[in-house]
Amino acid sequence: MSLKNYIRDIQGFPKEGILFKDITPLLIDPKATQDCVKILVSTVKNLKIDKVIGVESRGFFFGTLIAQELQVGFIPVRKPNKLPYETIFATYDLEYGTDTLEIHIDAIQKGDRVLIHDDVLATSGTIKAVCELVERLGGEVVQCNFIMELSFLKGRDKIIDKSIFAAITY
Ligand code: PRP
Ligand code: MG
Repeated sequence: MSLKNYIRDIQGFPKEGILFKDITPLLIDPKATQDCVKILVSTVKNLKIDKVIGVESRGFFFGTLIAQELQVGFIPVRKPNKLPYETIFATYDLEYGTDTLEIHIDAIQKGDRVLIHDDVLATSGTIKAVCELVERLGGEVVQCNFIMELSFLKGRDKIIDKSIFAAITY
């Protein structure tokens, strides 16, 4: 069955006018989850990835599974004041206001080949901030991958210098 069958549309969440793409039907089905991991891993298998980043919070679900499948380390990029050790941060614009993400300074070694995973590519503000964090620590972003891309928001056009892969496109 197509992965799209495991994404549930929720109208009006988290606020009116938004059609939310719910991945919990995918997560609750182990076979569909495994299929999704396989698809996400298939395009990076031969790219010598050293580390996988998952972006808090919905990027954590598949980020760790992808890292396990590739047999490499997992790095959490988190919202402010969640990581206990020394961090650097990047701030990005939202529709109203800004948001910040942090990474531990020792998470990436110079020259590390990094795969960044998040559940959704929308406007691309989040992923651009994560790419910035990786590069400031001396890592190379080999690919950014997503369960789904909301292509009508044209986020991809704002990160043309990066390799982007999405298992599902809307
Ligand atoms: C959502 C989603 C992506 C991001 C995509 O996360 O999980 O991380 O937005 O949007 P963008 O491409 O426009 O930046 P959110 O910040 O809502 O937090 P969550 O993952 O903790 O739900
Ligand atoms: Mg998120």
